[in-house]
Amino acid sequence: MSEPNQTKTINFLRGVPAQEALSNLIPMASIGYENAIKKYGTDVLQYGHFNGFKPLRDLLGNLHQVDPERIIVGNGGMEVISLLLKSLPRKSNIIVEEMTYDRVIHDALRYGHNLIGVELTPDGVNLDQLKAIINKTSITVFYGIPFHQNPTGIDYTPENRGAAERLCKERDVLCVWDICYEPLRYDGNKNEPIMVSDWGPILTSSFTKTISPGTKCGYMVLPKKVAEHMTGIVANTRLNPNLPTQGFIADFIESGEYEKYVNYLCNLYKPKMDTLNKGLNANFPGAFPVEIFGGFFSIIRLASITPDKEQLFLESAQKAGVGIAPAWDAVAPDLREDKKKKGLIIRLTFPAFEATDIEWGIATLKEVEKGVV
Ligand SMILES: Cc1ncc(COP(=O)(O)O)c(C=O)c1O
Repeated sequence: MSEPNQTKTINFLRGVPAQEALSNLIPMASIGYENAIKKYGTDVLQYGHFNGFKPLRDLLGNLHQVDPERIIVGNGGMEVISLLLKSLPRKSNIIVEEMTYDRVIHDALRYGHNLIGVELTPDGVNLDQLKAIINKTSITVFYGIPFHQNPTGIDYTPENRGAAERLCKERDVLCVWDICYEPLRYDGNKNEPIMVSDWGPILTSSFTKTISPGTKCGYMVLPKKVAEHMTGIVANTRLNPNLPTQGFIADFIESGEYEKYVNYLCNLYKPKMDTLNKGLNANFPGAFPVEIFGGFFSIIRLASITPDKEQLFLESAQKAGVGIAPAWDAVAPDLREDKKKKGLIIRLTFPAFEATDIEWGIATLKEVEKGVV
């Protein structure tokens, strides 16, 4: 192994927006918050609006072509998912992808639910497995991340998504699509939006990655009956959400500036994503599931880093200046032990870094791997 470069570092753990993007957001956020307070006054400073600020719900209703009564806007994507998990009968069976957003796993377990992992393929979920699980067990929810999946970067094909929805519908399973990365596609194409009918699917989303984590706003689109049931849970948990933020976001969307900002983000993140794809292809061919087209993440599985070598590899990477961690928390609990035997899985993020640092970080990881094996 070559001598580690001690002066350079990269922390592949931090799935955050680029600092540069947030700096560019400052004038827009300043104007947006000022407009929100001036325009809506005490309406956004007083209690109220359990399910979110009405003007924003109207805009989101229009975007998803549903009655705004079916939309609940809250303090972040995770908050609305958590409220949904809270609303389910304890010990509900929930299907998740074999690797998924780790906080959903933690939160579902905290509410006493039982998680069942289903395999991911480059096209989306393994439909035969999904069908077998749904037919064998009484399932309440299937939760999936169909666009630029966290953490694998996989995109479901529209056919795969549609088939998963049909399987859920046939068996009265709530199909929940977390679409928070849908707008963040960097290859110049747009993702095909998911159409919602009276039945569903349920959509959850977040403005954390498209605007800012600090402003914390997310929402869900629900079937009418579920929305009615949820209102009581929302009201008992936190009364109203942060209304000035929702006023700002409504103003941001209405002014057309939000769309421009998302386009700017896509252009900013494209060269970084291209560098990640190129670096992984050159250094770890076959170790990652797919070339990514957007989002914030990709994973690599290092078959050579068996459990006995894991600690040494992580420490060596740290010494070489590359911050990584095993992604075991993101693996469905019932599949975790088996996956661990097949080699270390690491999640890599890229939007906050310079392309040159991403390139260096991946090449350094390869050197570290060679030194440990
Ligand atoms: C798939 C997924 N869902 C939800 C969230 C949570 O978003 P928020 O910060 O709005 O709670 C994230 C954040 O990283 C995510 O990756």
